[in-house]
Amino acid sequence: MIHVKGLKKSFKLSKKQMTENKSKEKQKYAVKGIDFIVNDNEIFGLLGPNGAGKTTTMRCLATLINPTEGSISVNGFDGATEGEQVRRELAFLTNELKLDTHFTPDYTARFFGRLHGLDETVIEERMNHLFDYFGVTPFRFTKINDLSTGMKQKLSIVVSLIHDPQVVIFDEPTNGLDIITARAVTEYLKILKSQGKTIIISTHMMHVAEKLCDRIAVIMDGEIKAMGTLDEIYKLTGKGNLDDAFFNLYETSGGQMHV
Ligand SMILES: Nc1ncnc2c1ncn2[C@@H]1O[C@H](COP(=O)(O)OP(=O)(O)OP(=O)(O)O)[C@@H](O)[C@H]1O
Ligand SMILES: [Mg+2]
Repeated sequence: MIHVKGLKKSFKLSKKQMTENKSKEKQKYAVKGIDFIVNDNEIFGLLGPNGAGKTTTMRCLATLINPTEGSISVNGFDGATEGEQVRRELAFLTNELKLDTHFTPDYTARFFGRLHGLDETVIEERMNHLFDYFGVTPFRFTKINDLSTGMKQKLSIVVSLIHDPQVVIFDEPTNGLDIITARAVTEYLKILKSQGKTIIISTHMMHVAEKLCDRIAVIMDGEIKAMGTLDEIYKLTGKGNLDDAFFNLYETSGGQMHV
């Protein structure tokens, strides 16, 4: 289970960033006080446009950065004081993490398995299962450098899940994937859910949120504008699909559409 309470995150801006942001403020709040819970046996989606604060929220959850205010806890472990236990509980996938391209999938997955302190037999079992599921097996001994974008993304997923964690935090997991590969990833997330895992994904793709998530938080400009099941969000916005609901929330929160 994930608990996020009053989470705020601000970044100090460099002079260049201040110019880019057209701002005189020396700091920028990427996340402005958000609260949510993700339950076991649930897929929760953070749905928001570019720059909404999705990755920042997830980096706080993975304890890669410290919140400016508020708190996070993962399976009862506090992010501020029990970071190591939090990290042991979770898988974190983001496109900011790069695999070392000189190594092979076999070497990389084994390395991360050992890093998590797994037995060699467990590593072998997990690798065989995940490599088979994601179609990495034929490329097991190919240099990562020579793999396609999709295969690299699937390997990142395998590596993140090697220790069979209870909590799965996937930032834009289907980004850059073709429809078949994307389906393999979303189907695997459903399998993880059926195993009782706690899953949070971020996306800006409506159909991914619509098809996959039990509950959604629509996040814009660092704030949650709506949260609930699809039906609850439709009811709240008076719209019948997520596209329209999303634009309704965008416009009512002061966003301007440039067509
Ligand atoms: N290290 C940083 N320093 C300054 N500003 C940052 C930093 N990291 C993020 N930001 C800013 O915080 C805001 C939120 O960024 P974040 O990456 O969380 O958005 P996002 O919802 O993941 O967007 P995207 O869909 O483009 O991935 C953006 O305006 C971004 O420029
Ligand atoms: Mg992001």
